[in-house]
Parts: sequence; structure tokens; C-alpha cells
Amino acid sequence: MLNLNTQFELIRQSATVAMADRILALKASGRNIVGLQVGDPDFGTPSAVVDAALNAMQTGLTHYGPSRGFPDLRTAVAKKLLRDEGVTYDPDTEILITHGGIHAYYLAMQSILTPGDDVLIPDPSWATHSNMAIMLRGNVIRVPAPAENGFIPLFDSWLKALTPKTRVIVLNYPSNPTGAFPSREYLQNLQDFAAKHNLWIVSDEVYGSLYYEEKPTSAGAFEDAKNRTILVNSLSKSYAMTGWRVGFLAAPQRVIEHALKAGQNSITCVAPFIQKAATFALTEPSIQEVTAEMRAAYSRRRDLVLRIARELESDSVKVIPPQGAFYFFLDLRALNMSSVEMCERILDEEGVGLVPGSAFGEQGEGFIRMTIAASDKDVEAGFRKIVAWAEKQ
Ligand SMILES: Cc1ncc(COP(=O)(O)O)c(C=O)c1O
Repeated sequence: MLNLNTQFELIRQSATVAMADRILALKASGRNIVGLQVGDPDFGTPSAVVDAALNAMQTGLTHYGPSRGFPDLRTAVAKKLLRDEGVTYDPDTEILITHGGIHAYYLAMQSILTPGDDVLIPDPSWATHSNMAIMLRGNVIRVPAPAENGFIPLFDSWLKALTPKTRVIVLNYPSNPTGAFPSREYLQNLQDFAAKHNLWIVSDEVYGSLYYEEKPTSAGAFEDAKNRTILVNSLSKSYAMTGWRVGFLAAPQRVIEHALKAGQNSITCVAPFIQKAATFALTEPSIQEVTAEMRAAYSRRRDLVLRIARELESDSVKVIPPQGAFYFFLDLRALNMSSVEMCERILDEEGVGLVPGSAFGEQGEGFIRMTIAASDKDVEAGFRKIVAWAEKQ
């Protein structure tokens, strides 16, 4: 038998994907399913953005484009980062256009990791953060982010997890799956910790513009943070552009130079007409209004769930209000059942699609992730069914 890359034996098939397959099969068999499992906005991409891509195609932008990204797009990204996060990046040297946020994360980790390096990642967190580090032969150390501490690691836990081989901390705020983010003061302390122990901070901020009350602080918005902080972002969630596959990396020049080589030698470039549509999305004022409307819709659905939770007063389903992103990480630990079993049974018995919390790490066991990137009607019906099911156990 020919050898395969053994690293892949360390990666579990995503429970999100497994659940999606099961839901598709049920739908194909004619079952009516309330789908609250996806991490994809239920809104269409604004039609003017689609037109911008079509125009670009018609003017001939259907060949290779610049690997770094068009200068006007990099400038638009720099302006966005300054406007929204108060951070300054040089569009010529410190920004790279990528194939979505996941690719930005891949390039960041590829650029800084040496096989055998230890990588600190909070638990729970989006599975790709760990899986990618493993693919790159990093050694992942999970740092518990318990619900009892608002899904943020106790500061001591970072210290406990630290080893002489630790090279990088991976953050994702607002978090998928919890919607949590820490205070500015906490991030400042983490920056000080990273400086003291000579660590990179890779911060996945794809949900950065989806917040409900307070605004999260970017990991790059601290004095002296820039030389050790790498920002990962994309247009997927904020502009309802998940299928366009366009994102960006903002980092010190020497990281961008590595990431550029990794990008050139793997994807060549992001499709030029997609880049033009992204420039339009980031800069056109009317598009910012559309994204504000989407944010308002998520906020309305969040309030809807919180209102129903107050009305139903369930002892079995504990609802922790998310501060950002578009998920609820519902606490069903009272049922003493594995989150995979809960999700399978809720799907089979109530017809609601969800993601088991254990897909995000050990700390997610007993939780289920429910998206509010679905219609108000589905969010309400799905949440009521979850509570009714839990109350029957
Ligand atoms: C935390 C997080 N980062 C990155 C991504 C991927 O984003 P993109 O579509 O820009 O690759 C996701 C998608 O679900 C996510 O949840």
C-alpha cells in the first residue's frame, strides 16, 4: 500500500459536515427540516456587488490577476481596517488578498509555523483553527474557555498551557461557536503575555463587524501589537459573500512576503473579477447600508430568541446571550447526553438541524450550536422545538 500523509489521521472529519450530509439526506427523502446548522448568511449578496463582478468580467478581467491583490482592493482593505478597527496597515506591503478567511488563516499559519511548534487555541473554537495547525505539523494545545467564564479562557490557563515550544496564540472574536469576545483590557493583557513570551497572535476577525451591544476590539489595536499580530478577515459573513471566496491578511511585511510566496505557489491569485467586486463592496456607501440592515436582522433574531427563552423558562436549555457573530451556543448539559446524540435526536424527532458542541472541542460537550442566519420564522420555530424536546427528556 502506498503511504499517505499521516497528519490527516489526526484530523477528525468535521461534525458540521457530517450533520449537513444527514440533513441533506433527510430533505431528499421529503422531510421538512428547519435548518439551523449553517454558518452562512441567509441573505443574498447585494445585487450591485454581483453587477460589479459581471462588469469586470465583461471588461476582460477573466485572466490571471496580481497575486498580492489589485492595489485598489488593498487600499480599500487598509481604509476599512482604519475606519472600523482603528489600525493602520500599509496597502503596498502589509496586506494580502486571499481566497476567503480560511485561506488567509492558512497562509498566516503556513508563514510562521515550523513543524513541532506548539499552538495555543481556546476550546471551544472553530475546528479549522486546530485542523489547519495539525496539517502544518504544529502541536495544538487547547486552552479551556469555559461557559462559566463567558467562554473566555481564565488568564491563568494561558500560563498553564505555555511551553518552551509555544510559538503562536490563535484567537477568534467574536467567536464561532459562542459569539463571545473579551474586554479590551483582557486583550491588552494577552498582548503583554505574548510580548513577554515572544508569541505571535493570529486573530481571526471574520465576524468582527457582527456584534450586538459593545463593539469588539481588534487584536491589532494595541500599542506595539502590530509586529506580533496577524489579522485574518474576509467579506464572507459581513457582506453575505461566502461563495465568492475573498478575504485578506493584514500582517507585518515579512509575514506578508512569506504568505505571498505560499499564495503564488498554491492558488496564483484570487479571480480578478471577484477582486473588483470586493473593492466595490468595501467602498460603495450603499453597500455599507445593506450590511447594516443585515446586522439589524441578526440583532432582531437574537432578541427574539432571548425573549422566547425568558417566556419558556427552561431548566434544560440554558441560553447565554451571544455578544457577536450569528450563533447561540445553547447549554444543554443538564440533560447529561452527548451533544452528537442530542443533535441526531433533535434532527430525527423534531426536524431541526444543529451542530454538536463537541465539534468545537471538549469544552463544547453538552452544548449545541444554533445559527440565527436563518429566517425569523425558522429561528423561532427551531428554538421552540429544541426547548420542547429538551423538556421531554
Ligand atoms: C471563525 C471562522 N473563520 C473563518 C471562516 C471562513 O470564512 P471564509 O468564508 O471567509 O473562508 C469561518 C466560516 O465559518 C469561521 O467561522
